[in-house]
Amino acid sequence: MRLAIYGGSFNPPHLGHTAAIRAVQAAARPDAVLVIPAATPPHKALAENSPSAEERFTLSRLAFGALPGVTVSDLELRRAGKSYSADTVRALRAQYPEAELCCIVGTDMLETFEEWHDFAYILREAALYALAREPDELERVQTAAARLRAEYGARVTVIDTPPLPVSSTQIRLLLRRRGGAEFLHPAAYAHIIRGRLYGAQPSFDWLREQAYPRLKPRRVAHVWGCEHEARRLAERWGCDADLAAEAGILHDITKKLELSDQLLLSDKYGIINDTVETANLKLLHAKTGAALARDLYGVPDAVYDAIRWHTTARADMTTLEKVLYLADYIEPTREFPGVDRLRELAYADLDKAMVLGLEMSLEDLRADGITPHPNTMNALAWYKHRGETT
Ligand SMILES: [Fe+2]
Ligand SMILES: [Fe+2]
Repeated sequence: MRLAIYGGSFNPPHLGHTAAIRAVQAAARPDAVLVIPAATPPHKALAENSPSAEERFTLSRLAFGALPGVTVSDLELRRAGKSYSADTVRALRAQYPEAELCCIVGTDMLETFEEWHDFAYILREAALYALAREPDELERVQTAAARLRAEYGARVTVIDTPPLPVSSTQIRLLLRRRGGAEFLHPAAYAHIIRGRLYGAQPSFDWLREQAYPRLKPRRVAHVWGCEHEARRLAERWGCDADLAAEAGILHDITKKLELSDQLLLSDKYGIINDTVETANLKLLHAKTGAALARDLYGVPDAVYDAIRWHTTARADMTTLEKVLYLADYIEPTREFPGVDRLRELAYADLDKAMVLGLEMSLEDLRADGITPHPNTMNALAWYKHRGETT
């Protein structure tokens, strides 16, 4: 049996790693590839704010777990101390005495191989598959391979395949700037966004792709409008326009759910609904939507709160909460008597716009014979009083 060992920090695992695995499989036809995320990489410290070894293991499973012939192993996670490859080779040799072991290594690891702990043992027990990590590194790989062969009788196979020129360092940087998804397995990306690992911010395209299938088709235009209106209002009133856009995209993600599903979600997230809320299905999606947005897409508290209060409003709202409340009301697809006045006011005086919006909303509820939520009454009283005192 030929067993290829692919160790590394996988911080995060990306499509460059996948390409390397595929190249090794094509060139050397191993019976199995073992991906082994390091618990504590011995060569260099992990970047600051890196997720735990368990998270990197989970990400690696999401990234590579479905590849044929690939197993993600927790061998190094179960071992205390630094994750030396020699110890891993020793453990695998004990487990598979007859196997042909081969370690997959990139340019810099190959060039510094003598710095590896107990490297002579590794070279005795395992062959090396060497790959360039950047497109112009093949010569360096060949030179290092030739030297290791000559000096130590190492069995090194250079796999000449064009690498995907991307590194974990670049991806961590991209993730913070709402990029990086193109270099990651979709499930790994979703997991990163869910936990906002690496300080990641979701790409807006990705967030729309997540949100829109949860909407009734006719509500997509409204949500698109709300996202852009919220962004414009946030820019006008000096709050974070990107967070306003996130709130706009996600604010109605549970709106189409029936009462039974709203109650199931409420149960799941420990949401307690009062009698006014359970009597009015329309009110439930603010709480369940906020909870789902936090659970699935890791939205920060400011976005959670904006979604939470976008139907009833409340007294003393943050700017972002008011921005979403009004964007929902005045986005370009909205048409009702007085909407132009409300639009104008939203850009002229946010608190006065809140008063007008709340009054309009209460009038609609009264016309439909629906009991308004006390939070809405409180909000109106609050903003009216502010208008009188400022
Ligand atoms: Fe809504
Ligand atoms: Fe809405």
